[in-house]
Amino acid sequence: MNVSTSELASKYDSISSVYLQNKFPDEAFKLVDFEITDDVLDVGCGPGKQCKYLSPLVNSVIGFDISPGMIEFARRENSAPNIQYFEDDAQTFGDHHGDWSEKFNKIICFAVLHWCKDEEGTLKNIYHCLKPGGTFILGFPFKFQLHGKTSCYGETGDMWIRNHPRWGSFLKDYDTHVFPREDSEMFLECMRSVGFIIQKVQIYPGRWVQWNEQWIKAQLRCLFDPVTQIPVQHRDEFIDDVYKWLYDVTPKRPNGVLQGELGRFEYIIILATRE
Ligand SMILES: C[S@@+](CC[C@H](N)C(=O)[O-])C[C@H]1O[C@@H](n2cnc3c(N)ncnc32)[C@H](O)[C@@H]1O
Repeated sequence: MNVSTSELASKYDSISSVYLQNKFPDEAFKLVDFEITDDVLDVGCGPGKQCKYLSPLVNSVIGFDISPGMIEFARRENSAPNIQYFEDDAQTFGDHHGDWSEKFNKIICFAVLHWCKDEEGTLKNIYHCLKPGGTFILGFPFKFQLHGKTSCYGETGDMWIRNHPRWGSFLKDYDTHVFPREDSEMFLECMRSVGFIIQKVQIYPGRWVQWNEQWIKAQLRCLFDPVTQIPVQHRDEFIDDVYKWLYDVTPKRPNGVLQGELGRFEYIIILATRE
């Protein structure tokens, strides 16, 4: 995460009723019985919405996120006496909290794993912190369906930037990682190899969501990984250019508003346990 994550956290919250991602934790929670004795870990808790929702249902909730802005927002807006928030990285957190070994009855992780380059390491950390018999509830966007292969996260967008006379040189050695997954079976195999027992897999179809220019730019600035390769003083111009390109290649509704800036993705929810 690069800039103004606190601002983004507040935007996520303000549009949460229409925001696709928020729908999926709600769906996943229908599949699980939380108990008042449960200690829950939320990996990549973002603005803390799920931590706050779960806090009256369970004994304790710990949420952590790599983004200081998200954690600041979560502490301010979504606190409760039995919630603790930390900054940490899902790929390495196991090493930092020795006392989290086999501590949690339930671990949740929504819309985070696709940001983690070390996916297996992340899963191992989570496994390590889950109590035997505990449940891991995982959700993330996958099978990213590009609209005419024009999404900025996809192959074509990547090529557009790489071939751009001004921006291409900054991405020469850059390896895009986000949203590569087309096949759930390979991923489930990886979970099994870590030790998880897969209990349930649900795949939800995606739909277009309508957002405005300001919101799309805020998202690009914060979430669009190639931004990290561009010198800070040029990032606004880079975002303007990506936005213009994106606007040109994305189908519009009659009023000129984009149908969706990221394309359409499916969402997978996986329930897994540890023996
Ligand atoms: C789309 S938000 C989802 C937030 C929350 N889980 C939800 O469902 O509302 C993705 C979150 O993943 C966090 N994130 C990305 N990479 C991370 C990492 N390596 N470790 C921890 N959090 C990470 C981001 O900071 C961001 O808050």
